[in-house]
Amino acid sequence: MFRFVARSAAGKHLLRRGYATESVPDRKVAVLGAAGGIGQPLALLMKLNPLVSQLALYDIANTPGVAADVSHVNTRSEVAGYVGEEQLGKALEGSDVVIIPAGVPRKPGMTRDDLFNINAGIVKGLCAAIAKYCPNALVNMISNPVNSTVPIAAEVFKKAGTYDEKKLFGVTTLDVVRAKTFYAGKAKVNVADVNVPVVGGHAGITILPLFSQATPKANLAEEDIKALTKRTQDGGTEVVEAKAGKGSATLSMAYAGAIFADACLKGLNGVPDVVECSFVQSTVTELPFFASKVRLGKNGVEEVLGLGPLSDYEKEGLENLKPELKASIEKGIKFANQS
Ligand code: NAI
Repeated sequence: MFRFVARSAAGKHLLRRGYATESVPDRKVAVLGAAGGIGQPLALLMKLNPLVSQLALYDIANTPGVAADVSHVNTRSEVAGYVGEEQLGKALEGSDVVIIPAGVPRKPGMTRDDLFNINAGIVKGLCAAIAKYCPNALVNMISNPVNSTVPIAAEVFKKAGTYDEKKLFGVTTLDVVRAKTFYAGKAKVNVADVNVPVVGGHAGITILPLFSQATPKANLAEEDIKALTKRTQDGGTEVVEAKAGKGSATLSMAYAGAIFADACLKGLNGVPDVVECSFVQSTVTELPFFASKVRLGKNGVEEVLGLGPLSDYEKEGLENLKPELKASIEKGIKFANQS
């Protein structure tokens, strides 16, 4: 374990200026896969988050360097790096939020489901350790295919007797981030004002942006809505192809992951009305897991919000996504119960 503590005068000054740190509770965040393409910028963004007091960076390799580097940033949290399975327990102990971007990313021509064989095993192992060392933590699952890795996590936690459906989240925030960006560009509105719920799952047609509920309202033509929907669904592939074999979205994903983890921390700290979309255990449809707006609170999910009114195009998209999402969920459950 490598521990680094930043206690510079500049850091204290920065905190005092922006936040009443005295009233901010201590919160430990662990990032599993912290030396990866997502993990590194996500570690930096979590280091910038004043709600974090302890930041544990875990990977199977290269975390000492990442932790040393990030630890020099003069913000509140203490940073510790952990490398290799024997240090995983220490990394997890006492965590309030565990973010998981561990695993392999897509290459051109691959679907998220092609990652299943490798990532399912990684996620299963990490979740067994979470059940053992920090069973009360909120788990933010980034590793793909999210439509299957979240059900895998749920099964592992159930077996360990620690499952709490309020504390398991598939991170779909990047779909929301993309939908907001693409909508603002087409509707010519300020992107900072835009809100677009994205529901369903996190792969291809299972990603269903609800542009009929987008604000500010823009009265876009049906063809524009269809093109925006397709671009949001294919946003990940757009990046995979542009990176031409060098991985998938990392920077925008780190941003999205940091937004979602921040929302979880705010909820834990009792900030009211924190709402984000996430892939969670759900009764919004007949599927056991589904992404929709979720109100976050002191125990994680406070309320899974309904879909609201859908356009005919969105109703059709919802029916079309169900068979694929159902199959991905079942695949995850089957894998988790195999061995
Ligand atoms: P990467 O290959 O750059 O980094 C993955 C990291 O995980 C590596 O540092 C690797 O050493 C580590 N790792 C592997 N096995 C591990 C284990 N057992 N324990 C801890 N760490 C382990 O990949 P990248 O680009 O960071 O992507 C990570 C995952 O995030 C992929 O599954 C990718 O598909 C997914 N992803 C999810 C998105 C979402 O919207 N939810 C968006 C983009 C990517």
